[in-house]
Amino acid sequence: MSVPVPMTGPTTSPATSPATSSVTGPATSTATSTAAGGAHVSTPPAAAVHAVGVGKVFTTRAGTVTALQDVHLTVAAGEFVSLIGPSGCGKSTLLRLVADLDTPSSGELTVFGKSPRVAREAQDYGIAFQQAGLLPWRTVAANVALPLELHGVGRRERAARAAELLALVGLTDFAAHFPHQLSGGMQQRVAIARALAERPSLLLMDEPFGALDEMTRERMQTELVRLCAESGAAVVFVTHSIPEAVFLSDRVVVMSPRPGRISAVVPVALAATDSRTEDLREDRAFFDAVTAVREALHAGSRGAGPGSARGVDLR
Ligand SMILES: Nc1ncnc2c1ncn2[C@@H]1O[C@H](COP(=O)(O)OP(=O)(O)O)[C@@H](O)[C@H]1O
Ligand SMILES: [Mg+2]
Repeated sequence: MSVPVPMTGPTTSPATSPATSSVTGPATSTATSTAAGGAHVSTPPAAAVHAVGVGKVFTTRAGTVTALQDVHLTVAAGEFVSLIGPSGCGKSTLLRLVADLDTPSSGELTVFGKSPRVAREAQDYGIAFQQAGLLPWRTVAANVALPLELHGVGRRERAARAAELLALVGLTDFAAHFPHQLSGGMQQRVAIARALAERPSLLLMDEPFGALDEMTRERMQTELVRLCAESGAAVVFVTHSIPEAVFLSDRVVVMSPRPGRISAVVPVALAATDSRTEDLREDRAFFDAVTAVREALHAGSRGAGPGSARGVDLR
């Protein structure tokens, strides 16, 4: 998986690597396994994502950019992990490496114990990005069924699964509509239904609610929590919003830029993610977790230079 990249030319990273922050999922949550995926229930379940010393260097005409450096991250099966950090700190790059849309320059990255490519071929994960990316000439139901169609699932099974997914995201009545007839929030729900079509054990989401108004966004967060509980999928969720990260996650991974790396990991000690409700947003413990993430974020960006306080773990 490693692609050696010559480290010549100017880089934005210090030559030596300071202390790394290691991120490991709670051992207990691996027991929840990948029942939804079905194919990987052998013991012990492999982590949904396992990154060891992952780096990514982009070489452009202007020089090289170290988008990611020495990232260690383990996301347990069934765990919800958010990535948060300022623009350009490598969140999307990390997600793209996991999704096999790009390859790391260094380090090792596995998805359910397999290379990202093999995991992609096994349809281990679904993807949802900020833009719903629906095909405008297809109905809502046909958009949801698209991945199944591409993988040769028969018409009847596709229709049944699309109906089931649309019920899950509350869009049964809109199955025959076209994307332009839906609001932004509804389109995003279609995209999430599509991402769940093949019962992935892992969902990769890059600011999926970034374009939505605040009210819709909060409702979508509550729905996502429920959907994840029902599907048992692990989630890696990129966001700019601290409350969003806290509300959704078992752990919030805070990243800092230049070079992009993990500066802190904040475990969210709230109710289990599957029993989080709107009331939680008014809860003292919720505010405390928001404050912990905010402080970690500020410490991370203050310390973007050499000798900074890296590896902070605000337990
Ligand atoms: N394909 C690319 N070519 C060159 N540089 C890139 C490419 N993709 C991302 N980068 C650079 O890598 C860094 C991290 O980008 P990105 O992962 O998109 O950050 P984030 O999602 O956290 O905002 C940025 O400096 C960005 O300009
Ligand atoms: Mg991004």
